[in-house]
Amino acid sequence: MILLTEPASAPLMGELTPPGDKSISHRALIFACLAQGRSKVTGLLDSEDVKATANACCQLGMKLQHDGDALLLDGVGSAGLSQPGAPLDMGNSGTAMRLLAGVLAAQPFDSELVGDESLSQRPMTRIVKPLSMMGASIETAAGGTPPLRINGNPDLHGIDYSSPIASAQVKSCLLLAGLYASGRTSVNEPLKSRDHTEKMLPAFGVNLQGDCAVEGGSRLQAATVHVPADISSAAFFMVAAAMLPGSDLLLRNVGLNETRDGVIHVLKAMGADLTVSGLREQGGEAVGDVRVRYAGMLNGIEIPDKLIPSMIDELPVVLALAAVSRGTTVLRGAAELRVKESDRLAVMARGLEALGVSLKEYEDGMDIEGGSVAGGEVDGAGDHRCAMSFAVLGQVASGQVRVTGAENIDTSFPTFVQDLSRVGGVIRIDQGDSHDR
Ligand code: S3P
Repeated sequence: MILLTEPASAPLMGELTPPGDKSISHRALIFACLAQGRSKVTGLLDSEDVKATANACCQLGMKLQHDGDALLLDGVGSAGLSQPGAPLDMGNSGTAMRLLAGVLAAQPFDSELVGDESLSQRPMTRIVKPLSMMGASIETAAGGTPPLRINGNPDLHGIDYSSPIASAQVKSCLLLAGLYASGRTSVNEPLKSRDHTEKMLPAFGVNLQGDCAVEGGSRLQAATVHVPADISSAAFFMVAAAMLPGSDLLLRNVGLNETRDGVIHVLKAMGADLTVSGLREQGGEAVGDVRVRYAGMLNGIEIPDKLIPSMIDELPVVLALAAVSRGTTVLRGAAELRVKESDRLAVMARGLEALGVSLKEYEDGMDIEGGSVAGGEVDGAGDHRCAMSFAVLGQVASGQVRVTGAENIDTSFPTFVQDLSRVGGVIRIDQGDSHDR
């Protein structure tokens, strides 16, 4: 799929409720599957990644039905999963694969997890190693990548794991396995990653031990989950409004969990005019409305290392913003970007260079010299967040921007093109193209 943008001639105005939070949606489905009884979920993200998790849960025995805007999910209970008759296809989703691997490692049956071309290149040793320490038996392809062939072992034992990386997928995988293990399983990490698992487990009746530990044998009970709008999707609109003169955009019902809100701190530090109102709590998660008003050209900054886990998925669009900000923006300590849906540092660097941006790429980040950007052709490389970041930058480029490899925006934000157009962005899908990725 190819996205075509033109320089926007008018500001972005109006209101938007971005789609449901992807991380919370995956967890709501998996926890509901493991729970005894009927859970109710509203606001679930309707996207390819979340469908992969929903399909897998249904293959494991969960029943799913629509009830107006809500989903009713009949769980099987922790001990009630059935062996899937075929490999479970996680599509493009690292979260789906890594979280479900934690559950499946502890089952009395074998299973296999597969993914698309991108997911098949992503590192799984980060979960296989600690799961093996718990007694799990998992085979990967050479290089520690999917598919995962899981020889289920219902006799796992808890561990205290110090993760070398801040990763909510690793942490959540181990906590889920820990629910089945004997004894206690705890995870600590160098910087705190998103804590949706820790926040949602109590709603399903599982109390954490301390900040990040579970006791084996804990059972989940059905719950009601209201999924807030995804700050990672909202970020594209925050940046677009911060770039386009005269813009005034209100983003409603955005999840503002403090382990996810780094983008707000960084945009403010760059000089953006962002205000949060109606801050409230919804199912343990902070939610609010974010108003973004254009405040002139922003300033490049040194992105603080300690904020990186709380804005890891928003870094591509922040790099796009840096390209049209004054001075140099410095990003370091972000090597994790190289093992996301694409090598995001490389994909962003090549795309920004194609639009005339001068930058220097490092193993764990880049320096970007801000200024103006030209039109041109960039490759989203099948990575949803890079493709949307380029499309946002296209709004302020001096000519047309053609974003190839954009089909995977459906994994997280299927309504991106319509939503950006509705608030005044100039973007369309190039229907003429059917062969490009
Ligand atoms: C996610 C965790 C993050 C993030 C991903 C979603 C999650 O990945 O990048 O998009 O839902 O747990 P890591 O755990 O690899 O940092």
